[in-house]
Parts: sequence; C-alpha cells; structure tokens
Amino acid sequence: MKGKSASGPLVNGYVDPALVPHRILYTGAQMPAIGLGTFGSDHVTAGEVAAAIEGALEVGYRHFDCASVYGNEHEIGYALERATRRHIPREQLWITSKLWNDKHGENDVIASCRKSLSDLRLSYLDLYLVHWPFPNFHPPGCDVSSRSKDAKPYIHAEFMRTWQKMEELVDRGLVRHIGTSNMTVPKLKLLLRDARIKPAVNEMELHPHFQQAELFDFVRSNGMVPVGYCPVGSPGRPERDRTPEDTVPTQDPVIVRIANRLGVHPAVVCIKWAVQRGQIPIPFSTNRGHYLSNLEGVVSEPLTDAEMREISTIDRNCRLIKGQVFLWKDGQTWEDLWDLSGEITPP
Ligand SMILES: NC(=O)c1ccc[n+]([C@@H]2O[C@H](COP(=O)([O-])OP(=O)(O)OC[C@H]3O[C@@H](n4cnc5c(N)ncnc54)[C@H](OP(=O)(O)O)[C@@H]3O)[C@@H](O)[C@H]2O)c1
Repeated sequence: MKGKSASGPLVNGYVDPALVPHRILYTGAQMPAIGLGTFGSDHVTAGEVAAAIEGALEVGYRHFDCASVYGNEHEIGYALERATRRHIPREQLWITSKLWNDKHGENDVIASCRKSLSDLRLSYLDLYLVHWPFPNFHPPGCDVSSRSKDAKPYIHAEFMRTWQKMEELVDRGLVRHIGTSNMTVPKLKLLLRDARIKPAVNEMELHPHFQQAELFDFVRSNGMVPVGYCPVGSPGRPERDRTPEDTVPTQDPVIVRIANRLGVHPAVVCIKWAVQRGQIPIPFSTNRGHYLSNLEGVVSEPLTDAEMREISTIDRNCRLIKGQVFLWKDGQTWEDLWDLSGEITPP
C-alpha cells in the first residue's frame, strides 16, 4: 500500500484526499483504499444517493463504487459532473461501474459500458467489473424466490467471450482496468489461465464475520486487489438477502469493545480493520456524519496489532449476500453458487 499515514488533523469535516492511503494495482495505478458504495438496497432513492456523492466529494471521498443495476448512474453523473466542473480534476477521481448479468452477450458489453459512461457523464471508467459470473437476470426489487427461466450455470467458454469484450473496452480506452466480482477460486483460476488482460481487482463480500481468508489470499497472491462489499454488514440490505442465521458484525462484542475504546461507531472499526487488513472497503451511507466518520477512520489512530489479531478470530463464515436469485435449476441451494467443494458446481 502506498500513501501517507496520518493521525490527523481532521479539519472542519474534511479529510484531505492526499492523506487517504492508496492501493497499487498491477498496472501501477493508485486506487483509493476506501470508496463510497452506491447501492440504495431497493429503498434509498437515486436522488438521495446522488446527494450523498456530492456530500462525500465535499468531505474528501474520491472513489465511488457504481453499477448500472443500482439504477442511479444517471443521477450520480450530474453530481460527478458538477464536482469536476467546479473543483476536482477528473484524474483525481476513481469511478468503478459494473456490467449487469443480462448484458454478458457479445454485442451487449460495449454498449452497456457506453451507457454507464453516458449516464455517469464520463469519457472513461477507472474500473469496470463483471458484476456476477452468471448471465442471470433478476428484476430490481424482486424477492428471494424469483428465478429467471433463462438462468444458466457458469459456463467458462461463455464467460471468456464476455471477458474478451471487457478486454476490448481497455483496448478502446473506455476503461482503464477490468475486474471481477462474486468469483470463486476455481473460477478465477480458469480466468487467470485464459485472460489476455487479467483482472485488476475482485470485488467480494468482506466483513469481520465473513473474512473469506482463502479467496482473499488467492486474490492477493495473484496480483489482484480485493475490494470488500458490505464492509459493515449491510444493515440496510434488501429483504431477499436476510435469513434468520445472519449475524451482525457491528454487534460483535470484540468490535463493540474496540469501538468503545476509540469512541467511534462499531461500523468505523469494521472499516479500519478492512483497510489495515489490505482490502478496499466500499461502505454505503447517505448520512454525512456516518460517511465522514468512515473516511476519518482510515486516516486516524490505527487498530493495534492485538486488536487486528483478535478480529481475525471472530470470523463466523456468515455470507450475507447469498445470491439465491441467480440459481439456475430447481432443488439447488445458494451454496451451489459459491463452489464450496473447490470445484465449479456442475451444470
Ligand atoms: N459487487 C457486488 O455484487 C456488490 C454487492 C453488494 C454491495 N456492493 C457494493 O458495496 C456497497 C456497500 O455494501 P452495502 O451497502 O450492502 O453494505 P454496508 O456498506 O456494509 O452497509 C451500509 C449500511 O451501513 C450503514 N452505515 C455505514 N456507515 C455507518 C456508520 N459509520 N455508522 C452507522 N451506520 C453506518 C448505512 O446506513 P446510513 O446510510 O444510515 O449511514 C447503510 O445502511 C454497496 O453500496 C455497493 O456499492 C457490491
């Protein structure tokens, strides 16, 4: 990780972006070590998310995790344009977007990226991800039992055709990096074997109760950077992503005790842990006090080595975003999406 470590000063609700650490990607590019999530979880409006982007830019965020399926890139685009017109050069921003599952077709990838660029009012993206490795559509706001009649398993040859179009986006200068999301070790092994341009990051669920040590280590040891979604345990996630077994990392006694020591919300401890561990958390918030405190958490007193070790012991293997709506045949369980046996789940 490159960047200045700092214990402050934090002035007037603003964190100097130069103090925020960066991760170096294999291209040499520097990606801010924290970003703002933009998924309104089916209940926060596009306007509210766009307002949060404006506020987050004011307090010092420079990295935003967007996606076409979040349904708010158009509104976010105006917020970004206002910021770049007024005071922030485009090259100081890091903007990620994602290809949605119904746009994996060879003729859809470039058109879909162009649509995100147009909505976001940008001429290039810093990072474009394949959102899920399955080309399986589900309608926004659907419930957990929703299934597409056209749903398919992961078929590597088909994924590679999509990936080749992602590579073409880099060739055309429309995106600076490409990456994956919701992948598993066996799927990434095949992609690394066959890609001309390897993924720069893998975006994956990561929080103290779901640390994914094996995938995390695999990603890093293969020169990619892990980006962690749901970093504070996604308390506002949609109903379809809730089960009675789910645990709450911000209520974990270890996290709460550390939060009390530091005088911060437990969410801030989750963010500090994430950055110190080496992933890039992308917490969502529309509350200025919350998203400012998350950013401050990254440039203020670090967790101690003992606290980091203690948090490493509270993993509950609790996946919150299980992805049931992407299953492709009857009689499956969500585990089938995640190749738990170490092999890609057969069709
Ligand atoms: N690649 C993928 O498939 C994928 C999947 C899921 C999510 N994501 C990305 O990851 C982002 C983050 O995930 P997420 O939104 O599900 O979960 P999250 O960031 O873990 O949780 C967001 C929730 O935490 C609250 N919160 C955040 N900071 C807080 C603080 N300091 N104090 C108190 N509450 C705080 C927010 O409420 P307030 O608004 O009230 O602060 C919001 O309800 C998404 O927005 C999206 O960009 C990607």
